[in-house]
Amino acid sequence: MDQVRIIRHPVVQHKLTELRDLQTPPSRFRGLLREITPLLLYEATRDLEVEEVPVRTPMGEGRGQRLRSAVGLVPILRAGLGMVEGALQVFPEAQVWHLGLYRDERTLQPVAYYNRLPAQPTVTWCFILDPMLATGGSAVAAVDMVKRWGVPHIVFVGLIAAPEGLERFAGAHPDVPVYVAAVDSHLNPHGFIVPGLGDAGDRQFGTR
Ligand code: PRP
Repeated sequence: MDQVRIIRHPVVQHKLTELRDLQTPPSRFRGLLREITPLLLYEATRDLEVEEVPVRTPMGEGRGQRLRSAVGLVPILRAGLGMVEGALQVFPEAQVWHLGLYRDERTLQPVAYYNRLPAQPTVTWCFILDPMLATGGSAVAAVDMVKRWGVPHIVFVGLIAAPEGLERFAGAHPDVPVYVAAVDSHLNPHGFIVPGLGDAGDRQFGTR
């Protein structure tokens, strides 16, 4: 699947393995998520447009490049929250627009409970942040919302995806690139990614 880019950088894989580890406590889990997110975004932002600008250095005049786009970060609550701080290290000026979605445990369908996007889009690029893409329902719903908002460039950035979810995502949004650190084996009957890392929200916030 062309739209899916797996970030195989050794530092990313090292941190991902520690995130997966059952023994990693919430405090370290949060730290790792903060550390790994800028590395994911470094790859996920490579198509951002730049413009040529003059720059005066201590030694004289030069030419440089400046990012041209207004960037929005869209964390999906709750688990995406843990990616915001790391993403803001890359884009300190970014707007952060939270979306609240949870997955109904019985139907596995996403339920939207928070969306304060204004009527008109205020950014041209949106990076949707959620560590897990399992059945793909939440990611598809989040992209639906951001597309309805009118943002022209949307990218999904996560940690781990399941093949089943990627297939569903590709069916709904073939135009939206997906950057993840791993595509795992499969979903279990409860919709959890195997081997995955468990519930990313619970593992961050100690609510297991
Ligand atoms: C998890 C995860 C994703 C979603 C993925 O959130 O963070 O948002 O499930 O599953 P899907 O691809 O099947 O939709 P969850 O619903 O557990 O909510 P939480 O982050 O508030 O715990």
